[in-house]
Amino acid sequence: MTIEIPFFRYPHVFAQYRGDVLAAFLKTADRGAYILQDEVREFEEAVAGFTGARHVVGVANGTDGLTLALRAAGIGAGDEVIMASHTYVATAAAVHFNGATPVLVECGADHLMDLDSAAAAITERTKVIVPTQLNGRTCDMAALMELAEARGLMVIEDAAQALGAKFRGRCAGTFGLAGMISLYPAKLLGCLGDGGLVMTNDDAMAEQLRLLRDHGRNAEGEVVAWGVNSRLDTVQAAVLLAKFKHYPAEIARRREIAARYRDGLSGLDDLTLPPDEGDHFDVYQNYEVEAGRRDELRAHLAENGVGTIVQWGGKPVHRLSGLGFESVSLPRTEAIFERCFLLPMNTSLTDDEVDYICEVTRKFYE
Ligand SMILES: Cc1ncc(COP(=O)(O)O)c(C=O)c1O
Repeated sequence: MTIEIPFFRYPHVFAQYRGDVLAAFLKTADRGAYILQDEVREFEEAVAGFTGARHVVGVANGTDGLTLALRAAGIGAGDEVIMASHTYVATAAAVHFNGATPVLVECGADHLMDLDSAAAAITERTKVIVPTQLNGRTCDMAALMELAEARGLMVIEDAAQALGAKFRGRCAGTFGLAGMISLYPAKLLGCLGDGGLVMTNDDAMAEQLRLLRDHGRNAEGEVVAWGVNSRLDTVQAAVLLAKFKHYPAEIARRREIAARYRDGLSGLDDLTLPPDEGDHFDVYQNYEVEAGRRDELRAHLAENGVGTIVQWGGKPVHRLSGLGFESVSLPRTEAIFERCFLLPMNTSLTDDEVDYICEVTRKFYE
């Protein structure tokens, strides 16, 4: 019997905690509390408590968060910023819209930034390394911080996909000068639309971010700098606060699903599963696998009702047209993009559904 398992169930974002979310919505709407009201600060404090970040600043979306963090770090024309090409175009756009140049490097077998490739790309213009903490896993942050410190570079994390992911016990987003998290609906912690936040342990950076997101206005409402309008909506913060209570349980469930996939899918020669944990605590925003016969396998899964995707529409950033990366060649990343795809990974999945996906996959290889 075919079971229909879409790649993601958007209605689930609302339905899962419908009562709590509606109550949170009504509480803010009835009060007329829309812009930078208490819930924004309460949500920022809740995330700070959870991650150990000294400051958390809510913004309109993750892309703005990274753009503003780079701006607050002083990045501008003539500067180069190193990032892996296996990331969302938003990581590069955040650099571009500060007038700086994104420099794209390889990812390794774990699909995260390859540090040899990053080291080789450093020039006298390089100012920042932006590791994307992809799929709910961090890079080797000990080695990355060592490289950055040795070369005098800042680190600003694109932790859009990694709220609560840890490396040696420390949370994604708290290693460098700042770290961004996306609260887009399909993310680990999703709101009912766009949202994002920036974490930082640096007081001056936090102050800059608070000014930048609100037209340069300080706590007294006085304009003291140039800024933009990129505030996390109060109603979204209220929804996020209601959902955040369940976040540790949600992470535990994602890790259970990952373990179930590993049990059900190991031993298939053609299929490479995500890396083992070691020093990492992974939160599985995605379950990204590789298969030599990827396109056939995806077609077989689709015929059996299982939705899969290849991240970023199937292309790493340097292969997107019209962005000026035509001369960039990253053979290892390109080889991974011939093979990689995402199996469904979200808290709407039942154990039976995960078992079914494993069974359909095993049948393909029989
Ligand atoms: C790695 C990465 N960077 C940046 C973003 C951008 O975040 P947002 O959609 O909240 O602007 C996303 C998600 O969309 C992402 O996955």
